[in-house]
Amino acid sequence: MSKLKIGVIGLGFMGRMHAALFKELPQTQLVAVSDLDPGRYDGDIFEGATFHADFRELLQRGDIDAVSICVSDKAHCEPAVLAARAGKHIFLEKPIALGLAEAHRIVEETRKANVMLMIGFLLRFDPRYAGVKDLLDKGRIGDIIHIHARRNSPKSEGPARYMGSTPLVFHVTIHDIDLVLWYLGQKVKTVYAQAVSKALRENKMDDTMFAIIRFESGALVSLESSWALPEGSATKLDACMEILGTTGMARVECGCGGLWFCDSASTAFPDTMHWPSVRNHVAGDLKEELAHFANCVISGTQPLVTGSDGIRSLELACAIQRSMDTGEVVTV
Ligand SMILES: NC(=O)c1ccc[n+]([C@@H]2O[C@H](COP(=O)([O-])OP(=O)(O)OC[C@H]3O[C@@H](n4cnc5c(N)ncnc54)[C@H](O)[C@@H]3O)[C@@H](O)[C@H]2O)c1
Repeated sequence: MSKLKIGVIGLGFMGRMHAALFKELPQTQLVAVSDLDPGRYDGDIFEGATFHADFRELLQRGDIDAVSICVSDKAHCEPAVLAARAGKHIFLEKPIALGLAEAHRIVEETRKANVMLMIGFLLRFDPRYAGVKDLLDKGRIGDIIHIHARRNSPKSEGPARYMGSTPLVFHVTIHDIDLVLWYLGQKVKTVYAQAVSKALRENKMDDTMFAIIRFESGALVSLESSWALPEGSATKLDACMEILGTTGMARVECGCGGLWFCDSASTAFPDTMHWPSVRNHVAGDLKEELAHFANCVISGTQPLVTGSDGIRSLELACAIQRSMDTGEVVTV
């Protein structure tokens, strides 16, 4: 069977890993890449792939079946819409967009063009969070009473990379938002959230936000996100989740991925789950996620995360942001 031919748009932190994986996966071939900054087209990972400074040129190529869009959060709409119009299947990094009008436009254009759209909610491919979904589906946890999720990271990560171009809730909290919507599969009733900005105030970024969400079944969800941990934090991601149900409880702990390293200057818990480098190859759930996308395109089956999932998570993120901005309880 011939390989799925892929173009990657946006060659920053994520796009480089996508390119490396699409080059290596047995079912895909990396054909072309694009970034506004030609300086990003460097290194062996791009060998065999043509560079286009303008992604529109990449989209005009007849030898590309699918694209992976890894541009900044605020720039998702245009490449996604034009990719759909060019008949390309689309893997779009999370969040689907920063605004609901853009998100609906992306979904509508992919529907009209009859191309697949998958949103990059990586944690659905993390065996720990996917394991919780299995336990829920098997009825081992029962009716969900509460979920508490934390997702905290140091200032040297997201804030240093994005410099205020994307809000905390839409970039970070949205991962947990997607998970709780996936687990609960029901509508939200009310949302109350508060945020604080001290360490990152200069860049007009919130440091931390807490949200309390009531679902239709009565289930309570509390979300905590921060990207203002000190640069010296041993972990780049201090995340956890507790799911309490009427018959069982599950906990996911992500601070230490089982690998601990220290030397005379530092202590670290390197990533072992999402995109660890193993013998110089990207491994982890990112690989699972992109292989799933390719397999779904090849077999014509629906991906685990659809454009509608992208819209639902964005709707809840918007409600959280509205509550943070107004100080009011938002009824959804
Ligand atoms: N799933 C995850 O866990 C995860 C983790 C990190 C980032 N992300 C997502 O991946 C996306 C990219 O994030 P990142 O950390 O790689 O950002 P980044 O800032 O490192 O890279 C973004 C790249 O996109 C390029 N770009 C911007 N607009 C462009 C355009 N119109 N045409 C071509 N190139 C353009 C920039 O020049 C830059 O090289 C974001 O949507 C982000 O939310 C997902």
